[in-house]
Amino acid sequence: MTATNPTPVLEVRNLSVSYAGNRALSVDHFQLAEGELAGIVGANGAGKSTFASALLGWSRGAPKVTGEILLDGQPITALETPERVRRGMLLIPESDLVFATMTVSENLAHAASPANAGGRRLYSTDEIYDLFPNLAERRNHLGGQLSGGERQMLGIARALRLAPRVLMLDEPSIGLAPKLVSVVLQTVRTLVDEGLTVLLVEQNVKAAIRAVDRLILLERGRILAEGPVDEMKEDPRVADAYLGASA
Ligand SMILES: Nc1ncnc2c1ncn2[C@@H]1O[C@H](COP(=O)(O)OP(=O)(O)OP(=O)(O)O)[C@@H](O)[C@H]1O
Ligand SMILES: [Mg+2]
Repeated sequence: MTATNPTPVLEVRNLSVSYAGNRALSVDHFQLAEGELAGIVGANGAGKSTFASALLGWSRGAPKVTGEILLDGQPITALETPERVRRGMLLIPESDLVFATMTVSENLAHAASPANAGGRRLYSTDEIYDLFPNLAERRNHLGGQLSGGERQMLGIARALRLAPRVLMLDEPSIGLAPKLVSVVLQTVRTLVDEGLTVLLVEQNVKAAIRAVDRLILLERGRILAEGPVDEMKEDPRVADAYLGASA
């Protein structure tokens, strides 16, 4: 889908993240247009999760973060994570996607739609079950009983209930069989085609290429190359990342 809003949904300027004085990320400029699916790819330790976490203002460690992050033109850098989430910055992390001791429907009910979603799309439970028929079938199963693919779907479904402005997915392909990776990414693609803005973080370059509009190659915390996926997939540096990841 082409951008309809001239103001980027998300804009990042001079973002730098350091852990104990070691620079893990340095991004001069990055932006996401409305209804775009952008993929950040790179090897282990390239800084992909660091980037997504910094956008959310959350981290496992205590990094020093400097720079500017704008959501719909509004600076959010000074905001705590819960406020960023309220504004629709939603990250589905690499693990711990769902509550294992709650059923699928309880997991969904727990992610209650915000009373004020600021005009963002709200997904009803019925719409979510239409999007994810496997979850509908398993609505009374416990989160802990789901397969990896189903857990990933439930993680996405829970995020949708919170009315994302930007949905960030950190390595949704991890631990999934190739066929399920395609199913998950095709579902994300469908959401984007309906207008959602998504930032996909993937080490699985091959799978990302099939789903995204634009590819950003991250290496040692820096953007090495970026562009429309059709151009980027011909870039030898992307092929290197691709071979590196499958080696
Ligand atoms: N909490 C932390 N404390 C210290 N260093 C960290 C922390 N988190 C990440 N790093 C370092 O920052 C760099 C980037 O890590 P990051 O987790 O962002 O990589 P990644 O691209 O997500 O890798 P992967 O594909 O393995 O998930 C690595 O060198 C990593 O060791
Ligand atoms: Mg990571």
